[in-house]
Amino acid sequence: MRTEQPKTIHLKDYREPDYWIDETHLTFELFDDHALVHSRMSIRVNPGEAGDGRPDLVLDGQNLELMSVELDDKRLASGDFQFDENTLSLKPERDTFELAITTRIKPRENTALEGLYQSGSMFCTQCEAEGFRKITYYLDRPDVMSRFTTTVIADKGDYPVLLSNGNPIARGDHDGGRHWVTWEDPFPKPAYLFALVAGDLCLIQDSFTTMSGRTIDLRIYVEPDNREQCGHAMDSLKRSMRWDEEVYGREYDLDIFMIVAVNDFNMGAMENKGLNVFNSSCVLAHPETATDAAFQRVEAVVAHEYFHNWSGNRVTCRDWFQLSLKEGFTVFRDAEFSADMNSATVKRIEDVSFLRANQFAEDAGPMAHPVRPDSFIEISNFYTLTVYEKGAEVVRMLHTLLGPEGFRKGTDLYFDRHDGQAVTCDDFIKALEDANGADFTQFKRWYSQAGTPRLNAEGRWDAATGTFSLLFRQSCPPTPGQSEKLPFVIPVRMALLDGEGNEMPLRLAGEDGERGSETVLSITEAEQLFTFTDLSEEPLPSLLRGFSAPVKLIYPYHRDDRVFLAKNDPDGFNRWEAAQSLAVDVLQGLVEIHVAGRPLMMDQRLIDVYRTVLGDDSLDPAMVAEIIRLPSEAYLVELAEQADIDAIHIVRDWVRHTLAVTLEEQLWSIYRRLDERIPYSAEAVQFARRSLKNTVLGYLMLTESQDALSACVRQFVEANNMTDRQAALVALVNSPFDDQKRAALTEFAERWKDYPLVMDQWFSIQASAAQPGGLERVQELMEHPAFTLRNPNKVRSLIGAFASQNLINFHRSDGEGYRFLADQILLLDGTNPQIASRLMTPLSRWRKYDPARQNLMKRELSRIMGKPELSPDVFEVVSKSLA
Ligand code: ARG
Ligand code: ZN
Repeated sequence: MRTEQPKTIHLKDYREPDYWIDETHLTFELFDDHALVHSRMSIRVNPGEAGDGRPDLVLDGQNLELMSVELDDKRLASGDFQFDENTLSLKPERDTFELAITTRIKPRENTALEGLYQSGSMFCTQCEAEGFRKITYYLDRPDVMSRFTTTVIADKGDYPVLLSNGNPIARGDHDGGRHWVTWEDPFPKPAYLFALVAGDLCLIQDSFTTMSGRTIDLRIYVEPDNREQCGHAMDSLKRSMRWDEEVYGREYDLDIFMIVAVNDFNMGAMENKGLNVFNSSCVLAHPETATDAAFQRVEAVVAHEYFHNWSGNRVTCRDWFQLSLKEGFTVFRDAEFSADMNSATVKRIEDVSFLRANQFAEDAGPMAHPVRPDSFIEISNFYTLTVYEKGAEVVRMLHTLLGPEGFRKGTDLYFDRHDGQAVTCDDFIKALEDANGADFTQFKRWYSQAGTPRLNAEGRWDAATGTFSLLFRQSCPPTPGQSEKLPFVIPVRMALLDGEGNEMPLRLAGEDGERGSETVLSITEAEQLFTFTDLSEEPLPSLLRGFSAPVKLIYPYHRDDRVFLAKNDPDGFNRWEAAQSLAVDVLQGLVEIHVAGRPLMMDQRLIDVYRTVLGDDSLDPAMVAEIIRLPSEAYLVELAEQADIDAIHIVRDWVRHTLAVTLEEQLWSIYRRLDERIPYSAEAVQFARRSLKNTVLGYLMLTESQDALSACVRQFVEANNMTDRQAALVALVNSPFDDQKRAALTEFAERWKDYPLVMDQWFSIQASAAQPGGLERVQELMEHPAFTLRNPNKVRSLIGAFASQNLINFHRSDGEGYRFLADQILLLDGTNPQIASRLMTPLSRWRKYDPARQNLMKRELSRIMGKPELSPDVFEVVSKSLA
C-alpha cells in the first residue's frame, strides 16, 4: 500500500498566486542522454495576495536535478532555499527580482511523455496540464502568464530543426558541430502552452492570407518518410483559418503557424502557441493508408487545435477546474466547422451516438463529475468526455437559446473583454449574458451538477378543443457527492407532425402569434406543461430535434409511431433517431425474450423501415448508412439497468443476421450500384457513398454466401483506397472464412509493416473481433514485432480496443479479460500513468454487470489498489471506483 495518499485539490480553495512571472527566458542544451535547462525569470510580488510581509516564493518542480539558483545574479548557497520532491521555495528580499535556475533532466528516460521527452529520434514537449514543472522550477499554473523567449542548442547533424513558440529571431553555429536558434513569443502565455521540438524533420510549407491581408507562413514538420501524407492537414488548416474569420471574426496573430507530427503522444494533439504538436495519427492522411474516418479526424483535430489560438490561448483558463471553458467551447467550434465542411446531419448523428454510448456511461459511473469539476486528485484524469463533449453540448445549448447572431455578439464580447486574460466559465457566461441582456443564472447548473438528466414527456390530445398538451417532467440521478439536483434549463427543439408527416403551425396557449413550424421550448421547472392550440388533427410530436439537450428523453411512442417518424419526419436527425430508438426497443425486447429462454422472433416493422430507407434514393447515402446501423453494444449496455452482455451480444448478432438475410437482394443492388472504380477524393459525397457501400458489405458478409465472400475478397485486393480495403478486411476478420481471413491479415501486415498507423488499424481490427478466443489473440499480438507498450497508439489500438470494443471477449465469464487488463495497467503505471489511468475505464464500470462479474472486476480493482507506489492518476480512478 502507498504510504501517503495523494491530496485532493478543491475549486473553492482557489486563490491568486503570490507572485507573477512577467518574463521567462529559457535556454535548452540538448544532449544524447540529458538536457540542461537554464531559465531566467522576471518575478514580481502579487500585491493583492501579499499580506503583511512578503510571502515565500514556492515553485513547482518534479523529477528535476537542481544545478544552481541565482537571485538577482547572486548564486544562492544551499541554505538560502529549500526544496523537496515537488517544490523549490525561497524568501525574496525585494518585490521584484530576477531568478535564474538551471536544472538537468533526462528526456530519454521520460516514458510518461509529459514535459520534455524523446519520441524516436526527436525531442518534443507536452506541457498541458502540469508538464512544464518536469522541465524547470516554475509557477506551473495557467493564471501565471509570461512572455517567453527560448533558445535551443543541439547537434546540427542530428537536430537540424529547432523549434519553439512564436517567431525565430536569431540563429547561429557553435563549435563542435552544434547550432542554436532563438524564438520569441510576443504573447504572454501560461507555461502549459510552452513547446519545444528538435529533430531531423522535413518541412511542408504553404501560406495563408488573413482577412486583414497579412501573409502567414504555414509549416508542417514530419519525419521525411511521411512527407507525402501532409496535404490534407495543410488544406484543413487553411480552411480552419478562413472559417474562424468568417464565423467568429477571429484572425491569426503570429507570422508563422507550425504543426509537428510525433509518433509517441498521449493524446490527440496540443495547441501550444504557434507550435501545435500532434499525434501523427491526427496529421497524416493519404488515400492508400488512411480511412475516410481518419481523414475526417485529421480535419477535425487540425481545426480544434487551430481554434484554440483564440479559445484557449488568447483567452485562457484561470485554473484547471475551468478546463471546459476552452475545451467545451473549442469542441463545439470544431464540430460546427466539420458540419459546415461535410454533412451537418451525419456529423451530428456521429457525435450524439458517441456521447450517448460513452459520456452518458461516464455520468452514470464512479468518476462522474460536473462539466466544471469541484475537485480532483490528478488533473490529467479530467480530460474527459464530460469536460470535452458534454461541455460542447452545454455551449451548443447556449447557441440554441441565443440564436447564431446573439451567440456571436456574446463571443465577440468575450474575446474582446478577456483578451490576454486567464478567466472562468462564469466570465464566459457573463459575456454571453451582457451582450444579449440574458440571464443564465439557472442555466449555469449545467456547469455545476453532474449526471445525465431524464426528461419524461407525455402528450394529451383533446379532439373537442383541438389542443395538444405536452407535459414534461425532469429529474437527474444522484452522482458521487451530489445526491439532490435542481432543475436544469433544457431547450427542446420540436415540431408537431400531421398524418402526412407535415409540420403543423405551432400556437401556444397564452402566447400571441404563431411560432412557425418548429420551435424551441425552454424547460426550466421540474414539471412543466405546454399546450398547443388550433390543431386540425391529432399530431405526433417530433421532439429534441438535433439532440438539442444532452438528456435522456422518454416519450411513450408506440413502435408504429417510431416507424412513422423514421419514414416521414422532415428532420433528418430525428428520422435517424426514430429508427435508432425503434431498433433499441426491438433489441431490448428480444434480450428479455432470450433471457426467458423463448425463441427470438423479428419485429417486421424494423425490417420495413430498413427496406424503405434503403430504397429511398432521395436520402443522402451517408444517412442511409447511419440509419441501418444498429445501436452499438456499448450503448445497449449503457441503457440497461444491469447489462447482460451475453444476451445483448447474441441478440444483436441475431438481428443483424436476420436483417442481412431478409434484405439480401436489396443490399446486393446497392452494393453493385456503389461499387464503382473512381479516383479517390476526400470529400463528403464520396465519404457518403463509401460509408453506405461498406456498411452494406458488412451485412452481405453476414449471409456467409460465396458471392459475398468473392465480392469482399475482390474489394480487399482491388481497392484503390484504405477505406474500402479496411472495410473488406473487417468483414473478413469477422467472418467464418478462416483461410481467406488469415491470408488477408498476412498480406496486409506484410504490405504495411513499415507504416505504424496502418499497423495500429491491423491490431485494432483483430482486437475488436467478436469470435471466441479474443483474449488469446490479443496476447499473441502483444508479441508481434510491431507492438510495443511504450507507444500510446499501440496500447490504444490493441489493449484499449479489446477492453472497450470487444465486450463479449473482454467480459468472458472466467474473468481472464479483467485480469489481463489489470496486468497491463499495473505494468503501464510504472512507465506512463496517464495511459494506465485511461485503461481503467472498463473496470471502473463494474456496477453495470451481474454479481459474478462484479466480483471478478472488483478483485482486479483491489489488486491494482494494492500495488505499492501507485501513480496518483491510477490511484484516483481505482479508489473512486471502489468507493
Ligand atoms: N489541450 C489539448 C487538446 O484538447 C489536450 C491536452 C491533453 N493533455 C493532457 N494532459 N491530458 O487539444
Ligand atoms: Zn482542446
